[in-house]
Amino acid sequence: MLQKTKKLTIKKSTEEIQTWKDKRKAVILAHVYQPGEIQDIADFIGDSLYLSQQAAQTKAEVILFCGVQFMAETAAILSPKKIVLLPEMHAGCSMADMATVEEVKKKIQEMPQATVISYVNSFAAVKALSDYCCTSANAVEVARVVSPDQEILFIPDKNLGQFAATRSRRKITHWRGYCAVHNNLSKKTVLKMKQEHPQALLLVHPECPPEVCALADYIGSTKGILDFVKGSKTSEFIIATEIGILYPLQKAHPDKYFYPASEEMVCPDMKLITLEKVLASLKSLTPQVRVPEAIRKKALIALERMLEISK
Ligand code: 13P
Ligand code: SF4
Repeated sequence: MLQKTKKLTIKKSTEEIQTWKDKRKAVILAHVYQPGEIQDIADFIGDSLYLSQQAAQTKAEVILFCGVQFMAETAAILSPKKIVLLPEMHAGCSMADMATVEEVKKKIQEMPQATVISYVNSFAAVKALSDYCCTSANAVEVARVVSPDQEILFIPDKNLGQFAATRSRRKITHWRGYCAVHNNLSKKTVLKMKQEHPQALLLVHPECPPEVCALADYIGSTKGILDFVKGSKTSEFIIATEIGILYPLQKAHPDKYFYPASEEMVCPDMKLITLEKVLASLKSLTPQVRVPEAIRKKALIALERMLEISK
């Protein structure tokens, strides 16, 4: 009974959202960590790179971002003439919080010769201090653009920084940041899962610790993981990233089996977006995400360099 009522509420909200979306000439972008019912109302679902590409090229007047602050900020940097909505302004990213503008400025002063690459999971003002941006999908490609004799400062994820250094064979000094959702996944937990599901392939996001990445059959961004499953003949997978990704995986492959590496891999910020908040945001055209023009212009250079590399 309760399930039926919930389904009806979702159906009603979804219909209302569709009406308001058309009225506002809006596009809805959703990250794959979003709750299932949010992914179902989106025009585009994907990883940070794919969603920033969509934000840069959309003809819609309003971009409603179902994700976290740095993703909506990236859309606002790329599409300054559009209204960018984030239905819940408190949806942040604890990893981005680990690299404040003051700290990054200080580090750059200590390493004035270094090329600065900032992971897209960072504040707009940190991107503005960077030579390049990258996402988990193209960190290796971006690092490879830098000459091998050039030192790189990579901000803020230590695990992605290390992964990019190994794959690109570049000299990378990485920041001390991390994503708690991924970094807390232990080798012991993964080995236990592998023992329980010996036939399964292990797919890992590069924000996981190096000892977990070392066990992987594939390491990639969330979209990389979705694409890997699509192209694989295997029917069982252990998924080492935020559990929201299981929704599109199961939906696209109902005949396959997906096991979360740990049920604890839940990003609380990603779950702050609800259908009610999306509807309210479309109706009121708030909260809007804006980036001060001086910061936006500088951050845009780093973002455009990245998009050019990943065209
Ligand atoms: P992706 O770019 O791989 O989707 O990752 C974003 C993120 O926040 C991972 O925690
Ligand atoms: Fe940030 Fe981690 Fe959440 Fe991704 S999963 S948004 S890196 S806190």
